[in-house]
Amino acid sequence: MAQRETWSTRTGFILAAVGSAVGLGNIWRFPFAVGDGGGAAFLIVYLAFIALIGFPAILAEFVVGRKTGRNPVGALMEYGGEAWKYVGGVFVFIGIVLLSYYSVIAGWFIRYFLAGFQGSYADHLASYNGEAIEMFFDMTFGMSSVVLHTVFMAATIGIVALGIRQGIELAVKLMVPALIVLLVGLAVWAFTLDGAGAGYAYYLSPDAGTIAENWATLLPAAAGQAFFTLSLGMGVMITYASYLGEDRNLTKDAATIIGFDTGIAFLAGLVVFPVFFSGGIEPGEGGPITIFVSMTEAFANIPGGRVLGLVFFGTVVIGALSSAISLLEVVTAYLIDEKGVDRWKAAGGIGLLIYVIGLPTTYDIIFIELYDGFIDAVLLVFGALMVMILVGWVAPKVAVAELEKGIGDLDGLAQAWIWAIRVPIIIVLVISLYLGIVDYMDILASFSEWMNANL
Ligand code: PHE
Repeated sequence: MAQRETWSTRTGFILAAVGSAVGLGNIWRFPFAVGDGGGAAFLIVYLAFIALIGFPAILAEFVVGRKTGRNPVGALMEYGGEAWKYVGGVFVFIGIVLLSYYSVIAGWFIRYFLAGFQGSYADHLASYNGEAIEMFFDMTFGMSSVVLHTVFMAATIGIVALGIRQGIELAVKLMVPALIVLLVGLAVWAFTLDGAGAGYAYYLSPDAGTIAENWATLLPAAAGQAFFTLSLGMGVMITYASYLGEDRNLTKDAATIIGFDTGIAFLAGLVVFPVFFSGGIEPGEGGPITIFVSMTEAFANIPGGRVLGLVFFGTVVIGALSSAISLLEVVTAYLIDEKGVDRWKAAGGIGLLIYVIGLPTTYDIIFIELYDGFIDAVLLVFGALMVMILVGWVAPKVAVAELEKGIGDLDGLAQAWIWAIRVPIIIVLVISLYLGIVDYMDILASFSEWMNANL
């Protein structure tokens, strides 16, 4: 086998992992998940999930990745035994489906970014008689969506084809700092808006009653969102850690990455909710189109909305691209390591397949719900659960030894990590998975209605 690449610096690895974590999950998904979950109540459950489950889970993926130095299929097989390659296969499948619609949604953001150049959001909105939803469907679906999906996938393929150091590492070194600067700028500006106070209140003051009443929907939603935003449950962190040298302190890296991702999601909330409330928008249960509809209405109503909108939508595109490359890298690494395909052919070939699989989602929003619901509430939770079983029960000793490399003896902390995984985390994940599957049945039911009505 040809020599496998490694990250050139520790910062390179951290930026790549942060770049993967920070994306549509933080800016597109997070606000509507908060909206669906009733505001601050969701935020609390989500933060608890990140700290208590996200952190042990990312460490588990790092350990498996660095120990084996392979893509998820090879890594799980080497770590757990032959049968685990099927779980790795599920991870590759998740990567393919997730990227297919992720790219289409990124294309919507490109469309809204371009719209800012064509005229103010107020003018755009006026030409649809003030109907932001109509504007959304007209601007994003159909041909424009196909074209922008093509552009976004081409950029993703190009970066991944260039490899770890020349492609991914270089790209994230530019993108991640730019993203942070832009978001901080937007949050500062949002702070000056009239409705900022109401936005912060909605976002930041939780109500224990709401949590207790809605736990059965909050739990799977928070679980799905936590894994989605940290890029867990499908092998990205396994793959990225497989390009690491031995000497890294994995716990420190994990804490840094989680800190950045959570900080940025939180920051995105500090932009979005003040903007909503200033524009007189109630953060409702609009699902995947919420951010477009509400932000356009808000940008149309506030001074400087055109420039701010342009910067906002452009920022999201940067975040999406640094996540998309990690998704494609998982599948590409699999083809390179296990099938001996060369990097360009692997990225290009599978990228094309992903592109085609994404096409239905340019046609009707129901496909986005169908894809995203399955990935988010079911498959990522399943994937994370599998890694937990692998590390907690199948080969815990190997995991402890690997975690302690580059750190030294952890005095029982590594054992505590294993026990946390073994019992409480696995129980919570099984419950979340069950509830997630139950919720997904509703989406399937509306999909079959849609099929009956349209075919
Ligand atoms: N974490 C990314 C985001 O928040 C999405 C993602 C999920 C990327 C899983 C890779 C793997 O947008």
